This record gives sequence, C-alpha cells and structure tokens, in this order.
Amino acid sequence: MVQDNASRDGDDQLAPSPGTLNFHDWRFSVDQEGIGWAIFDREGQSANALGSRPLEELSAIIDWAEEGARRRTMCGLVILSGKDKGFIVGADINEFDGFETEAQVLDRLRLVLALFDRIERLSIPVVAGIHGVCVGGGLELVLACHYRIATRDPSTRVGFPEVKLGIFPGWHGTARSIRQAGPIAAMQAMLTGSMIGASRARAMGLIDELVASRGALRWAARRAVLKKRKAKPAGLTKSLLTRWPARALLAKKMRDETSKKAREAHYPAPFRLIDLFELHGGDIEALKAAETRYFAPLLISDQSRNLRRVFKLSELLKGQAPKDTTWKPMRVHVIGAGTMGADIAGWCVASGMEVTLQDLSPEVIEKGIKAQGKLFSRKFKTRAEKAAAKARLIADPAGAGAARADVIIEAIVERLDIKQKLFVELEGKIKPGAVLATNTSSLEIEAIAAPMADPGRLIGIHFFNPVAQMPLVEVIRGAQSREEEVKKGATFVTAIGKFPLVAKSVPGFLVNRVLVPYMMGAMARIEKGEEKEKVDEAARTFGMPMGPIELADTVGLDVCAHVGRTFGLSPEGSLLARLVEQKKLGKKTGEGFYVWKDGKPEKGDKTYDKADLERLGRELVEPLIRESQRALDDNVVESADLVDAGVIFGTGFAPFRGGPLHFKASEHPDDGAREAAE
Ligand code: NAI
Repeated sequence: MVQDNASRDGDDQLAPSPGTLNFHDWRFSVDQEGIGWAIFDREGQSANALGSRPLEELSAIIDWAEEGARRRTMCGLVILSGKDKGFIVGADINEFDGFETEAQVLDRLRLVLALFDRIERLSIPVVAGIHGVCVGGGLELVLACHYRIATRDPSTRVGFPEVKLGIFPGWHGTARSIRQAGPIAAMQAMLTGSMIGASRARAMGLIDELVASRGALRWAARRAVLKKRKAKPAGLTKSLLTRWPARALLAKKMRDETSKKAREAHYPAPFRLIDLFELHGGDIEALKAAETRYFAPLLISDQSRNLRRVFKLSELLKGQAPKDTTWKPMRVHVIGAGTMGADIAGWCVASGMEVTLQDLSPEVIEKGIKAQGKLFSRKFKTRAEKAAAKARLIADPAGAGAARADVIIEAIVERLDIKQKLFVELEGKIKPGAVLATNTSSLEIEAIAAPMADPGRLIGIHFFNPVAQMPLVEVIRGAQSREEEVKKGATFVTAIGKFPLVAKSVPGFLVNRVLVPYMMGAMARIEKGEEKEKVDEAARTFGMPMGPIELADTVGLDVCAHVGRTFGLSPEGSLLARLVEQKKLGKKTGEGFYVWKDGKPEKGDKTYDKADLERLGRELVEPLIRESQRALDDNVVESADLVDAGVIFGTGFAPFRGGPLHFKASEHPDDGAREAAE
C-alpha cells in the first residue's frame, strides 16, 4: 500500500511497507516500528488546502490506520505537511461556491465530520506535527488528533479566520477548541479570527508540545506515539465557565464587545457563534450537533459569498506583482518627511527594509522618525527588534541614500515645478534598475516626468492616509511609464505587505476618483440642510466603515478641498470652502463639520428611522457606484473585479456587499443581460 517516495521528505530511515495507495495529495508510509506517516503535500499547489480529494485520500489513510490498529500492525499515526512554508491553510474555499442549498452543505459536512470523528476514535495515538500556518479547517483537523506538536518557528501560527469569510468553524472546531482551550480563549480566537503564535497556542491549550525546529518534529512525534501521549482538555476552572449562568454572562459580554466592531445585520456570523455558545456551550456533544445547524445557512448567505469574494479579490491584487521576478527591494529612500513621507518610511522599515529619509529640514526628519515609535512598538515585541527597526530608519538630510536605494519615493509638497526639478536631479544620482516613484495624488505623472532624460522610468506609488492602516497602494502607470517599472512597483508594494493596484494616470486614479463624488455629494446634502449625523449614520447603515462627513473631517478639509478642486468640485463659497477659510480643517484643528474632543467627533444621540437610513445610505453611495462604472469604462484598471478590489481596499466600501460593481449587478441582475442584448 505504501508509496516508496517517502525519501522525498528526508525520511529514508523509514522502511516502506508493502502495497501502494495511489495518492495525489498525500504521501503515506508505515515504518518498521508500525508508525504511519501521513504527509500532506497537495499536488500542483503551493499551499495545502483541504479540498475534496485530499479529504477522500485522508479517509483512505484512516481506513488503513483503522485496519492497522485492529490487526496491531500499526501503533500510531502522525500527520505532517510536505510543504516548506505552511501546514494547512484551511478548507478549499473555491469549493464553497458550489453549494446552493443548506442540504448540500449538510451532506458535505457529514462526510468530513464522520472522518474527523473516526480520527478522534482511532485506538492508536494520532499526533499532528505542525510547522507553518495551520488555520481554519487545518486547525479543526489537528484538534481531532490526540496530540499536537508545533515548532517554535515564527511562521508557525494557528487560528480560526472563518469569521472573516462570514462563517465560523464548521468541522466541530467550535466544540473541540472550547474543550481544549476553555470558552474564553477559544471564543476569542473564533470571534476575532486573529493569528496565534505557537507559544501562545500552547499556553491556551490548542498545542500540547513545542519543538525548536521542523527537523525535530518527527522525533518528537515518534516519541509522542510510543509514549501514547494525549492532550489534556481545559481544566475545571475553565470548563466551569461553560455552565449556566456563567455562560450567559460571558455570552452577553462577547455580544457587547462584538457589537462595537460589527453590525449583526452586516456580519451575522460572530453573533450566531455567540448564540450557539450561549444555548449549547454546556455540552460538547450538543454543541457539535448545533454547530452544523447554525453553520449551514451562513455558508450559503450572500454575506459569506461576498466576503469570500473579497478574499479572492485580495489574491487578485497580490497577483498583479509578477511571480517570476528575482528583483528584491531592500533599501528605500523617501524624500519628504511630512504627513505621508514619514509614515511611508516607517512602514517600509517595519516591513524589514532599510530606509533613508530626506527633507529640507533636519528637525522635520527627526519629528517624522520619532513619530514611528508607536508603529514599531505595535509591530515588534522585543527590545532588540525595536532597536533594530530604529537603526534601519536613517535621517538623511543630504539625500545620500538615493544613490544606494532600490526604490526612491518622493512625497514632497504638491507642486509640479518643485517635483520636476527634484526628479531631474535624482535621475543623475540613482543606480540603474532602481525604481523612481512619486506619491502625488493630483499631479499628472506624465507632467512630472516631462523634463526627465528618461521619463519612462517614473511611476506613481500612491499611498493612502493613514499609511499603516490602509491595505491598498495604487501603482500608477503614466502614459510614458515602462511596463518593467510598473511591475517592479507592484513587487515593491507586495514586499511591504500591501495590496498593489495598477491604475492608469487619470485624475484621482481609481480610489480618489470614486471617493470625491461620494464625499462631495454628502457635503452638498449638508449644505441643503440634511443633518450630518444622519448622513454619517446612513452611510454606516449601508456598511461603510465611517460616514463621509466624519471621513472628510478626518482626512482634513483643506486636503478635501484641494482634491475636490482637481475635479472642478468644491466651488468658491461652498460650505467646505468657508470652513477651510475659517481654518476649521477637521480633526487636526479640533473643528470642521464636527467639533472634535479627544480624537472623537461630538455627535448627539438622536436616533433615526431605519428605513429612512437605508434609503439615504443607498442614495449616498450611488455617485461612488456610478463613478466606479465610469472608471471601468475608461480602463483605469484592467477589470471590473479590480475596480471592486480597489474600491473595497482603498475606501473600505462595505466588504460584505462584494464591491460597488458587484453590488450594482446583484441589485439588478438582469442589467448585464439586457445590456448584452442591446
Ligand atoms: P506635507 O506638507 O505634510 O509634507 C511634505 C514635506 O516635504 C515637508 O516636510 C517639506 O518640508 C518637504 N519638502 C518640500 N520640498 C522638498 C524638497 N524639495 N526636498 C525635500 N523635502 C521637501 O505633505 P504630505 O501631505 O505628506 O504630501 C506629500 C505628497 O504626498 C504630496 O504629493 C501629496 O499629494 C501626496 N499625498 C498626500 C496624502 C495626504 O493625505 N496628505 C495622501 C496621498 C498622497
């Protein structure tokens, strides 16, 4: 049964057993001691996802293990990954789209649940050896094993990211994680979807043993099998919390916390998970049964479909960077240490790069560097890491770093003549192959490049404010920009952990182009007498993360007026123009449309009619949706999916609605067909 390809994984010491199972996604062998080694290595894929075929093959392995246990030819089973980088990334979400009805979901769930139960019931020890990411369905699989060993490597992390896809663990991960970690830690992990390092996972009870490296996993697993090690469930104190009335109190607290972050109408999954825990969390078997019932409707909901779409859109954005490149940016030179430049420099440093930061005055550079302390404290836990980050951010008033940098980003004052002069000077200084980019938000890339000897070299790399929080960066292709430079720009953006969106050089590129009519439209409503609180609440009811008026105050009304002017909006005498004249610039000056106290706008506690808010919210986003369509028609980016991706990640457009164009098409599903017929 056993393949003799085990040596691929460096396990030549294991004598292959007789027979062959023809697997695509697993390698399976039984060694001389009777330990079965199941190595997950999905064919043709860089990561292991638990799709139908790997699950069927795993089922055949479990058949074999059951038989081996019965005949006493096997004394244990170890599950490992054959991938260098990760363990299991979860279920194969591409397969979720095939489910139309709850019955279909339930049929599929039953198969997987039966398989996991068989693993749990095996009479021989089943040990998982985890190196790299083990999340979602992968974590559920290892929780069905008897003992879990993980490497201390920083890449080894576990978690339940399901809520981000509009679901929660559905392969009995709710019950098993509560059993192992207790309700507080397990529910927190499932409600937040956060990634958990190996040491913390061990402290929580999700992992039972840690080893130093991948090389040590096999021996530790062998020892665990031979010693028949078994994970201990959460202690009595933790499990008492699953009893009534502690459970009801916990559930209430979780509901309050979750409501602060998400609305139930938009993101039902975490709320259903809390209901599930509250009603059934006292009995693991009851919890398992109810999990399946609660899970199925979520998986086929529009919200989950759209959130899965958002995940795929993020992959699409990452795919804009070429895969076959050997170019690896390490050094960055940022010119301009103001609002944007300092934060761009800080972000690049936090992503592991070395950065030189230039400005006209050393004091501005110092201030910009100091401001990055907060980011470094958030990103790095140890003093040594923080010190290393600080050492990588170098004040460079003379601009000497430009000559050594792989990427040069200009973020100076928004004046064409000054930028032109700077780039002409830079051209002569920088090394061949370095990327030369401007962060301009309103000037034409072509105009900035015009006086350069080699204008094809210049691209835009357009960050959003605040840099650390915004996941998207537009990579702007000017009419003159060479494709090679654009590709390098996208590679750089991916290297600093952001999503690149390659966009054409048109006013506002993609994101500001769609945001401006939306925000100006909202301001026009205020001018006509609509309450600002109502407008903001309506946008949030639609699903925007922040209302447009609060957003304008946050961005700064001077910046809004400037961007508006590039579109011929924000006319003289408008409310916006008057506020700017009065130096009421929003959050930064303490007053704009709102009065700001302690970083928050002062709002009354008036409530509004729900239907009214829904109607107004829909009307507010109409200009944004219309402009998204125009941007697609003008080929600002290459496809409708990229428009949706850019608008979701660049503006926060209600992710559970799947993007402006997707939302429009789903509201009027016949439009596309009609247009095609016309
Ligand atoms: P800022 O005014 O805060 O900072 C500009 C900095 O550049 C100042 O510290 C100034 O001393 C320095 N500077 C001016 N001329 C210089 C030169 N020749 N050499 C070196 N340093 C010089 O401006 P901000 O807001 O950071 O904007 C910078 C660029 O980023 C602009 O092109 C703007 O359009 C773009 N941008 C701004 C966004 C924002 O929200 N503020 C968002 C996205 C892009």
